[in-house]
Amino acid sequence: MGLAKFIEIPEIVDDCYLYFAENPTQIHFPVKRIYFITRAKKDLPRGFHAHKKTDQVLFCIQGKIKMVIDDGNKKEEVILDSPSKGIALPRMLWHEMHDFEENTILLVLASMKFDPKDYIRDYDEFLKASNK
Ligand code: TYD
Repeated sequence: MGLAKFIEIPEIVDDCYLYFAENPTQIHFPVKRIYFITRAKKDLPRGFHAHKKTDQVLFCIQGKIKMVIDDGNKKEEVILDSPSKGIALPRMLWHEMHDFEENTILLVLASMKFDPKDYIRDYDEFLKASNK
C-alpha cells in the first residue's frame, strides 16, 4: 500500500469555488491549530522533519508543490496542486516540500498546539525513532 493518504474535500462551485472540511468527516482529528505558508521560494524547500505526536493534514489551496514523504522504510514523491485534495501527514512521517510554484499557498491543520519539542529534525534520529 502507498504511503500517501489523500484527503478529498467537497468543492462548491457557484460564482466562486468554496471548499470545506469538518471533523471527523474529512479531518480525522479535532483541529487545535492552523497555519499557512505563503511566498515560499521555489529553490528553498521546507519541512525536513517529522512530528512525534502531531497529526496534520496539508492542503495546497493555491499553486503547486512536490512533497516527499518517508516513513523510514519507503519514500514517495507526490504532487499537490488542487485545493480539494489534501494529504495526511500523520505523526512520525518525515516530510519535505519542494518546488514551490510562484504564489503557492499551503494550509495546514494540526492536531496539537505548536511545541518545538515535538519536532524531529535530524533524519538519522528519525530513522532510529521510527525503528526502521
Ligand atoms: P517549521 O515547522 O520548521 O516550518 P516548515 O514546516 O515550513 O519547514 O516552522 C518554521 C518556524 O516557524 C519555526 O521557527 C517554528 C515556527 N512555528 C511556530 O512558531 N508555530 C507554528 O505553529 C509553526 C508551524 C511554526
